[in-house]
Amino acid sequence: MTQITDKTFYIGADDHDIDLFEGFYEVPLGMAYNSYVILDDKAAVMDTIDAHFGDEWMGKLKEALAGRTPDYLIVQHMEPDHSANVARFAAEFPGAVIAASAPAFKMMKAYFGDEFAERRLILKDGDSLCLGSHTLKFITAPFVHWPEVVMTYDEASKTLFSADAFGKFGANDVEDPEGWACEARRYYFGIVGKFGKQVQDLLAKVKAAGLDIQTICPLHGPVLKEDLAYYLGIYDTWSSYGVESEGVCVCYTTVYGHTREAAEYLAAKLEEKGVKVALNDLARCDMPEAVEDAFRYGKLVLATTTYNGGIFPTMKVFIDELTERNYQKRTLALIENGSWGPMAAKKMAAAFENSKDISYAADPITIKAAMTDENRAQLDSLAETLAK
Ligand code: FEO
Repeated sequence: MTQITDKTFYIGADDHDIDLFEGFYEVPLGMAYNSYVILDDKAAVMDTIDAHFGDEWMGKLKEALAGRTPDYLIVQHMEPDHSANVARFAAEFPGAVIAASAPAFKMMKAYFGDEFAERRLILKDGDSLCLGSHTLKFITAPFVHWPEVVMTYDEASKTLFSADAFGKFGANDVEDPEGWACEARRYYFGIVGKFGKQVQDLLAKVKAAGLDIQTICPLHGPVLKEDLAYYLGIYDTWSSYGVESEGVCVCYTTVYGHTREAAEYLAAKLEEKGVKVALNDLARCDMPEAVEDAFRYGKLVLATTTYNGGIFPTMKVFIDELTERNYQKRTLALIENGSWGPMAAKKMAAAFENSKDISYAADPITIKAAMTDENRAQLDSLAETLAK
C-alpha cells in the first residue's frame, strides 16, 4: 500500500503472467491494474482490478481500511480489467454505495446480473460527492474509451483520477527503459486512438473547468506528479492526430525479399539525409508498434506485394488498423510490387479514400519483381521529397 496524496493510497497490482493484454497487445513489461482508496471521513474506493488479482487487491484494501468499512465504490470504467471485482466488493461490503454512470450500471447488469438498484448512486457530469475534507467532482468522459467512463477530480488534493487516459503498458514495479512515452503511445493509439475527438472533448472540458491538476492517477501505469503540462500536451497532440516527431515511418511486407530491398533502400537514403526512419516489416514486427510509429511521424511509406489481385494480407490488416483509428493529417507514399499484375498501390490508395487530410508525396512506385535502376532513381527522388 503506497500513499499517493494525504488521504489517497494505491491498492493496485502488477501482472507479470499476462500473455496478451486485451487478448491482443504484447506487454513485455507486464501490466499494472491500478486502484486507489481515499480515506477521509468517508472512505471511497476508486475502481477495482482484474479478476486474477482479486485476492491481492482485497487484501490491500482491507489493510488500508484498517477495520473501517468503505462507504463508496466509485466505478469509473466497466472494462473487466478494472471492474472484475465489483460484485465481490458489493458482496463483501453490503453497506457500501456503488457510484457510477447510468450506462455503467447497465453494464453491471450485463456482467454481474445486478445493477445494485437499492444501493447505487448514479453519477452525472458535474456531480460532486463530499467525503469530508475532500470533495470529488465527476467528469463524464464517454468513449475514453468506453461509453460509460467517468473521471474524478479531487479538489482538495488536486488529483485527477483519469480512468484509462494517461495509462501505459507495463507493470509499475518494472522500470521502463524507454521512459513513459513509448509504451504510453502504443497503449494510446492501440486502445484509445480511435476516439481522438472524445479525448479532445475531455481536454476541452478540463480546460474550461479550470481544473488545477497536480497529480494524475490513471488506471494503468505510474501515478504522474511531475511535469503534468507535458502529459496533457502530448495527449493533445495524439488526440488531435498531430505530428509528434519529425521523421518517416516505412512499413513493408515482402514475400521473396524484393519489396524489403526497396523499403531498406529508401530507408538508407533517408537516413543518409539525416531523416529519422522507423522501419517495420509488418509480418514480423509487433503490429501495434507499427501503428504507434505511423501516428507518431508525419510521413508514412507503405510498400507491399500485390496478392490475390489486391494488398498483401498483413498490409491490409495494417491499413485497417490505421483507418479504423481515424488516421489523418499525414503525407503518404506508396510502393507496390507485382510480377505480372501490380494492383496494390491502387487498392491501398482506395483504402485511404475516406481518411481526412491525406496527401501523397509522389506518384506510386511500381516494382515488377526485382528493383531496376529506374526504381532506384524513383526511390532516390522519393527520399529527396520526403526529406524536405
Ligand atoms: Fe483498462 Fe479500458 O480498460
